[in-house]
Amino acid sequence: MRNIDELVSKLTLEEKASLCSGLDFWHTKPVDRLGIPSVMVSDGPNGLRTQKADSDHLGLGKAETAVCFPTGSALGASFDKDLAYELGASLARAAKGMGLHTVLGPAVNMKRSPLCGRNFEYISEDPCVAGNLGVGYVRGMQDNGIGVCVKHFAANNQEYCRMSTDTIVSERALREIYLAAFEMIVRKSHPWSVMCAYNRLNGTYCCENSWLLDSVLRKEWGFDGIVITDWGAMNDRCRALEAGLELEMPSSSGLRDSQIVTAVRTGKLDEAVLDRAVSRLLTWIFRPEDHDSSSATTLDEQHALARKMADASAVLLKNDDSLLPLEKKKEAVFIGTFAASTRYQGGGSSHVSSYRVSTVLDSARSFAGISYCPGWGDDAAQKDAGRLEDAVRSAAAAERVVVFAGLPDSWESEGSDREGICLPPCQDELIGRIAEVQENIVVVLFSGSPVSMPWIDKVSSVLQMNLAGEAAGESCAGILFGDVNPSGHLAETYPLALEDNPSYLSFPGSGKKVVYREDVFVGYRWYDSLQCPVLFPFGHGLSYTTFSLSGARLDGRRVSAVLTNTGKRAGAQVVQVYVRPPRSTEDRPAHELADFTKVMLEPGESRTVEFVIDDRMLSYYSSECGCWTAEGGEYVIELAFSSRDIRQTLVLRLETEQRPFVLCDHTTVRDLLAFMPYEKLPGFVKEAGKCFGVGSQVKREAMDDKASLAMFMEMPLHSIPSFVSVPEDYLEEVRKLSES
Ligand code: BGC
Repeated sequence: MRNIDELVSKLTLEEKASLCSGLDFWHTKPVDRLGIPSVMVSDGPNGLRTQKADSDHLGLGKAETAVCFPTGSALGASFDKDLAYELGASLARAAKGMGLHTVLGPAVNMKRSPLCGRNFEYISEDPCVAGNLGVGYVRGMQDNGIGVCVKHFAANNQEYCRMSTDTIVSERALREIYLAAFEMIVRKSHPWSVMCAYNRLNGTYCCENSWLLDSVLRKEWGFDGIVITDWGAMNDRCRALEAGLELEMPSSSGLRDSQIVTAVRTGKLDEAVLDRAVSRLLTWIFRPEDHDSSSATTLDEQHALARKMADASAVLLKNDDSLLPLEKKKEAVFIGTFAASTRYQGGGSSHVSSYRVSTVLDSARSFAGISYCPGWGDDAAQKDAGRLEDAVRSAAAAERVVVFAGLPDSWESEGSDREGICLPPCQDELIGRIAEVQENIVVVLFSGSPVSMPWIDKVSSVLQMNLAGEAAGESCAGILFGDVNPSGHLAETYPLALEDNPSYLSFPGSGKKVVYREDVFVGYRWYDSLQCPVLFPFGHGLSYTTFSLSGARLDGRRVSAVLTNTGKRAGAQVVQVYVRPPRSTEDRPAHELADFTKVMLEPGESRTVEFVIDDRMLSYYSSECGCWTAEGGEYVIELAFSSRDIRQTLVLRLETEQRPFVLCDHTTVRDLLAFMPYEKLPGFVKEAGKCFGVGSQVKREAMDDKASLAMFMEMPLHSIPSFVSVPEDYLEEVRKLSES
């Protein structure tokens, strides 16, 4: 164990300031005379982007060869907490081999709109999925001695003006949606670092937002790591230090280090603030010393894991007449350039210089005779009339056709958002034309975000491969020909039209501001509350086998049910638990995911799944009280295979309101009655009740009893003196009674 305080006391002011920014794009600065090393960080999240030899000033050049794992959206679709742990552990072993200290991931921002250019990197539209998988990833990585940097904190949900936009969002939506995954990760897996986002949040840049970085992250959640800027996210260095931002990356060539020195010398910055930052930085730098070194790994081992993850995340969206899996050894026609040049990752800082990329076409040839037509131009958005006609002709003559469609690279990349949710028109057109001549059509999709499917009723099967990493091709062939049973589920809703999305009218905002008008109604929270028809609901995913769920039981807060594989082959199912709250005084989504588990079963096998419903799963965040609260009433616990496929329901009764009693002049009689029985109400409140006929025999002409009771219930304490006399310290009287 290092003596950090002693080390801080030995550093000069200049040395301390120098530690607060990077040496270059990927390294921190050393202080050789005191044995403080320079440490290296690397992207993240779905493979290592380590640049050693030819590091360029934007970090976007060639990187060391590494295995490209499925991207965040595919990880989300796996709904597999154990697999997220395995990914973290494997990345850590590889990172050790590369001499890294910290990997820049996981990325757990919410998918507010299907258009965000980085949605392929993000896990879900739901914080329960992103949080739980993030926890697995972080534990896997840090258990093996490598640090994570959870990003991008917070409310960075678009690429348009991503470095400057001001995200205006209510505290409730922040707590329930945009911060919740970060909170779960910080509380449960203690990440070594968090990356602050580029944007402003309710008027203040995240890098200098002391509410975000200090009050919430550190004081409330107990974060004990360092906060690193996103690359170039620094605004005012001293304000950022005061707010709790330790490390500026990549480097400001000494500019901001000297600003710190000057500010301390002129008394504008308290040196204790700098010391606090340096102490946290040194603790972070030396953290690997307290962790066992993990065992090494090989690229081949990692490739095998990438394959396993691709298998687990592919989502079978539709499979009429069980067209899939295709019979082996029978000819098939493959159409679409993605068959030969399978798309498997997105563009930008997460781009990996991959180890061994497979294509579906090559991999499928070991299962059956395949003929191939590109179908459109070499750029997947380019129409090629000759290729289109060729493809239609081949499709007409074939027994079964698989079309490999998806988004071109340039449509899904860090730095810009998509313009719509359509596939390139040439692809939609070709699928439509093929449907005129062929009945047995499978469409395979390669995209990291939802696409519309105007042809959905004309094709038998749709398989969403996501961006499944370097083993996407072999995984896809295995699924198409039945060696692998798909088990992914959608971690985001596929809307019928972009206009149905709750952020439609306010994405990406105008000028330098985006207002999250839909508030907590993000993704399925919106679609399901409105019962709005969707293309595919959140949580949806089919299998080559079938499952049943029965015998649901509630024992206190423990929920259980029996999952059975009722089909003829082994397969995995994701059991999802949603909580449907009672009618509330607050606008609450119809239901919200509370937990999930993925279970692998042999044919005929059954297993009991169990969940524990904690207070938080029942609660909403009350901005008024500044706390989580669950009102008394009946909560329906839904056990489901998707947000629209509820298999079993149970009722959990909460007798009383679960929140601290906050007393003020606005407290209403209804608020009081949530905490105390009528008999216990203070005398003056009961007296006021009599004016409304409550607790009195006097009948009133203008209003019946029910209406006058309702009127009384809505009365705030400050109004009561207008009707009856009250003691001078009436609030104190209520307080005492509520505590007794
Ligand atoms: C991205 C981060 C990334 C960093 C370093 C930034 O542009 O937003 O996600 O970790 O670059 O490459």
